[in-house]
Amino acid sequence: MRTVSSLDKLRAGRLSLNGTVGLVPTMGYLHEGHISLVRRAKLECESVVVSIFVNPTQFGANEDLSKYPRDPERDLSLLKSLGVDLVWNPTPEIMYPIGYQTWVEVETLTRPLEGAVRPGHFKGVTTVVAKLFNAVQPHKAYFGQKDAQQAAVIRQMVRDLNFPIEMIICPTTREADGLAMSSRNKYLEGADRPAATILFRALSAAKAAYEGGERNAEKLRTVMKGMLDSEPRAQPQYVSCADYDTLEELDLISGKTLLSMAALIGKTRLIDNFVLG
Ligand code: PAJ
Repeated sequence: MRTVSSLDKLRAGRLSLNGTVGLVPTMGYLHEGHISLVRRAKLECESVVVSIFVNPTQFGANEDLSKYPRDPERDLSLLKSLGVDLVWNPTPEIMYPIGYQTWVEVETLTRPLEGAVRPGHFKGVTTVVAKLFNAVQPHKAYFGQKDAQQAAVIRQMVRDLNFPIEMIICPTTREADGLAMSSRNKYLEGADRPAATILFRALSAAKAAYEGGERNAEKLRTVMKGMLDSEPRAQPQYVSCADYDTLEELDLISGKTLLSMAALIGKTRLIDNFVLG
């Protein structure tokens, strides 16, 4: 496994890769969710590239950029054991040199849900992912369903900017009690950890109602909100029952649907989602 930081070395490393190249973009502090993406890429591609970059432009002024967890040595030994070919861990100065002024912005899809609570977040995500795509030029790129809106926004960017890249969206990896794996779970202390399963339990309750025949979207939102409100440590930010592709809130469920939510558990902000239909 080669590990490189500079663009020149990344390009040289990329030139030496054979066959179908898969890219797994990450911000490091790898867990089973990231690893499931790498394993899938290993199955489907001759060569696998993983990027590790805590992208400053996707964090808001009051967010956790400075305390975002990092463990590069552990990440690299994990990736090596998985048989990854090339790891790119650029510095902020490489990605955003002094005088940097070019941004990629997806419009309508970035407005609701995470976009409404985290203004500017997706502009940072699409810009960095476009730069990763340009530098690595993968045939396939692997993302998690865990960040459903991010996947939808990047899929739209790939379509709009004609990136010749196949997007592969992988299922959410969960802890035994249902909590979706996330680097931010590290922040959950004491009673916040069991309380954090309320997102999974709220989604499960809405899914059970759907499977029982409920098709009124507002009823499903009410089920999810009611569950979140029953957990004193949870402060819900939104609950949504939206069209899977457009992310527009639904009245009546007919096709593929995204149930999603964000809540603070203590001080930790968590998101989760289920896909119906
Ligand atoms: P990060 O949070 O490190 O996640 C990297 C990838 O892992 C994303 O595609 C994310 O959806 C996926 N992932 C995270 N938790 C997962 C889980 N429990 N199950 C399955 N997949 C999971 O998302 C980012 O980084 C950044 O925004 C990035 C795309 C790298 C751009 O900076």
